Amino acid sequence: MMQQTGLAVSLGDSIEEDEVVALYEANAWSSAKKPRQLMAALRNSHALATARVDGRLAGLGNAISDGHLVVYFPHMLVHPDFQRHGVGRALMGLLMDKYVGFHQLMLTADGAAVDFYKSMGFQRAGRTEPMWIYAGDEH
Ligand SMILES: CC(C)(COP(=O)(O)OP(=O)(O)OC[C@H]1O[C@@H](n2cnc3c(N)ncnc32)[C@H](O)[C@@H]1OP(=O)(O)O)[C@@H](O)C(=O)NCCC(=O)NCCS
Repeated sequence: MMQQTGLAVSLGDSIEEDEVVALYEANAWSSAKKPRQLMAALRNSHALATARVDGRLAGLGNAISDGHLVVYFPHMLVHPDFQRHGVGRALMGLLMDKYVGFHQLMLTADGAAVDFYKSMGFQRAGRTEPMWIYAGDEH
């Protein structure tokens, strides 16, 4: 893996609708079609990690949590221009540091993301079956 140069990851960055929608559209994520709710969701997350490369939004990940025992990571995405350069690892590392010691760190992984999360130490959750009521169309 080549490390991305000019990369800055942070918690508590401010984000703009245009750059967020561009990132979600680049990954064909359906929540790009609900920008008002998407921005409110990200801004009201328990934590929001952003990655910028020379100022440009290259990726983000958010967390929802009870603040003590359980944290769930709903969104993690890196712009295709920057994938496989350590951006996702840096974002997830920042979030995992924040929630280190929690009883459960949870997420739903799909496709190539499964190997990404395995590389971050996640494993299939016993014999559980991920379940949802989902309005999106990309799975
Ligand atoms: C999954 C995703 C977040 C990974 O981010 P990334 O910045 O590309 O990943 P990194 O470069 O930090 O990769 C870290 C490690 O994860 C694993 N990994 C990442 N992408 C992978 C892929 N496509 N296939 C297999 N392993 C992968 C590798 O072990 C990698 O280490 P290496 O490059 O040294 O081999 C990113 O590819 C993405 O946004 N994909 C589309 C959206 C998505 O699927 N998000 C997850 C939702 S559940």
